[in-house]
Amino acid sequence: MKKQTIIINFKNYKNGKEVLKLAKSFEKYNKEIIVGVPAIDIREVSSKTKLKVYAEHVDSLHKGKSTGFTIPEEVKENGADGTFLNHSEHKLKFNVLKETVKRCSEIGLKTAVFVPSIKEAIKAEKLKPDFLIYEPPELVGGKVSVSSAKPQIVKNLSEKMHMAFLVGAGIHNKKDVKTAMELGASGFAISSAVVLAKNPTIKLREIFGR
Ligand code: G3P
Repeated sequence: MKKQTIIINFKNYKNGKEVLKLAKSFEKYNKEIIVGVPAIDIREVSSKTKLKVYAEHVDSLHKGKSTGFTIPEEVKENGADGTFLNHSEHKLKFNVLKETVKRCSEIGLKTAVFVPSIKEAIKAEKLKPDFLIYEPPELVGGKVSVSSAKPQIVKNLSEKMHMAFLVGAGIHNKKDVKTAMELGASGFAISSAVVLAKNPTIKLREIFGR
């Protein structure tokens, strides 16, 4: 099977010491995995694992008078390789998304932009993010996967996109992965199936093989 990008979104399912423990169990499976962790855990996970660490969101504000916002420089200086943007659980207006992608690229912070539709994918592709991820919001966190519920959209994306794209939402078994790859996806964003698994390393092997 061709190479897949795997992005694991920790959301706020785990906090504190559990975050590093979980990250280490993913590292055991594959060091090339990208993990999105709460901002406060970025430094620890990036310094104690070889994984690529992403923030789950950043704000486009600048250094200085921006109380309580998480700015791109902050996550980069703490060891993040990139950031998620526009996840369906943290939606941005298009002009804010555009400005934030620009700010991140200026300082060398990679961006993984989430989109809920082909229409938004076409717009977001023009911003030149490093990753584009299609996730139907209504399937996020459920047991019905993007591969089984939206195969036609995934196929249409592969025809319309000029850049590689990932898919996410409800991915929980080998068949979900196989179907999406056959339809043209180049990787996956996944959360609940592995983050909440009793044995996350075994679960990753079950879903992605090896
Ligand atoms: O970013 C990935 C995430 O939103 C997918 O969640 O729980 O459906 O795998 P889940």
